[in-house]
Parts: sequence; C-alpha cells; structure tokens
Amino acid sequence: MTELITALDYSDAQSALKTVDLIGPSCQWYKVGKELFTAVGPSIVQELKARGKKVFLDMKFHDIPNTVSKAVHSAAAIGADLCNVHASGGTAMLTAAGQAAKKAGILLVAVTVLTSMDEAELASIGLSVTPQEQVKRLALLTQSCGVPGVVCSALELPVIRTTCGADFITVVPGIRPAGSSADDQKRIMTPAQAAQQGATYIVVGRPITKADNPAEAAAAIAATLASSR
Ligand code: C5P
Repeated sequence: MTELITALDYSDAQSALKTVDLIGPSCQWYKVGKELFTAVGPSIVQELKARGKKVFLDMKFHDIPNTVSKAVHSAAAIGADLCNVHASGGTAMLTAAGQAAKKAGILLVAVTVLTSMDEAELASIGLSVTPQEQVKRLALLTQSCGVPGVVCSALELPVIRTTCGADFITVVPGIRPAGSSADDQKRIMTPAQAAQQGATYIVVGRPITKADNPAEAAAAIAATLASSR
C-alpha cells in the first residue's frame, strides 16, 4: 500500500510539531528538509521519534563517497528512517552510500533529476539529454549500485516501474488531492492516481499543512490510499 509522508516545510520546531500533533494518527511519516533541519538540528528528528513517527530526512546528500556514506550513517544515528542522496554523485558515491545505509539500517533513495531542471538547464551543465532520458539513466544507475529506490515525479512513475521493476521504492512529491490548489507544482497527480501507478510513498506538504483542518486533510488522503490498495 502507498504510504503518506507529510512534508514539514517550516523554519521552526514549534510550528512543525504543532502540525504533527494536530494531524495525530492519520500520518505516520514526516519529511524533515533542509530548511527545518538547518534551523533546528537533530532535535526535530528526536521529537518526531518520541511521538512514534517515522522520519524521512530530506538532505539530498551530494559529496565524495566517504563523506556521503558518513552522512548516511549520521542520519541513521540520529533516528531517521529514510534519507536520500543525489544519484548524479555517481557509481562510487551511490555504492558507498548504499552500503552505509544497509549497515546502519536506514532506507536510502536517490534523487535523479531535480524537477526544476528542464532540457535547457541540463544543457547548461553540459548534459545534452532530455530530463526523461536522464531520469531513466540515473534510476538504473541507482539500482545497479544497490540503492533500493528513487525520488521521482508522479509522471515518471510508469517509466521507473517499467525500467526498475515493481519492488523498486518510489518516493513521489507533487501530489494534489482533487480540487486543491496546485501552488507552484507544475506536474501534479492525485493521491489515488499515484497509488494506482504504484508509488511506494507520496510526499504531501501544503495540501495538509496549509489546510483549515490538517487532521481532516491527512485523514482523507490516508483513506484514499487505503481504498486504492
Ligand atoms: O507543499 P508541497 O506538497 O508542494 O510540498 C512538496 C514537498 O516535496 C516539498 O518539501 C518539496 O520541496 C518536495 N519536493 C518537490 N518536488 C521534488 C522534490 C521534492 O516538491 N521534485
């Protein structure tokens, strides 16, 4: 079944934890990204763990193999359950990170191509490929290096499933329940569609955190996922 991860895009712990406490049992997973982690530090992960929650530490590590594998180890040591690296760090980095994650008992996924990169942006860094070709290439590289999944847009789900198989983990942002605002997301999919396409996790931020009633918003998405099994 597809699981819901709520993105805690806040700059202080109090606002983040207020949302978590409001949501209650409808969501088990929370994403802590660069904004919140840089402002607050590891204590936010510990606060979430104290509430019985699972934590996706979205730091998108990208560095030399030794540094990244140690960062993955540190993510596990502070209690994160899932973390990520940039697949463009290459074979040696992905392999080292994958081994560190297995050893430390943390789930690891890789970011292929940032959704803010289009063909012109890729060309500007010397890559004459389409984003789709690069996503496929990096997903395959990720898998061949022993990293069990990727972060991908909902629209990339079918190609990732075909290329890497049904057991490959997919973490999918850009999700909007029917009728909710797209905000700045351009390529969106509903929770039900993402579940039908086989997403392992969906990441949802503003449709929950900015809702009048975050608990109801999260519960509705969780119910949709449960019925899309
Ligand atoms: O509020 P919203 O649902 O758009 O939040 C989505 C979350 O997923 C944000 O934390 C955003 O940074 C993250 N994300 C994304 N698109 C990507 C990768 C991450 O929206 N390609």
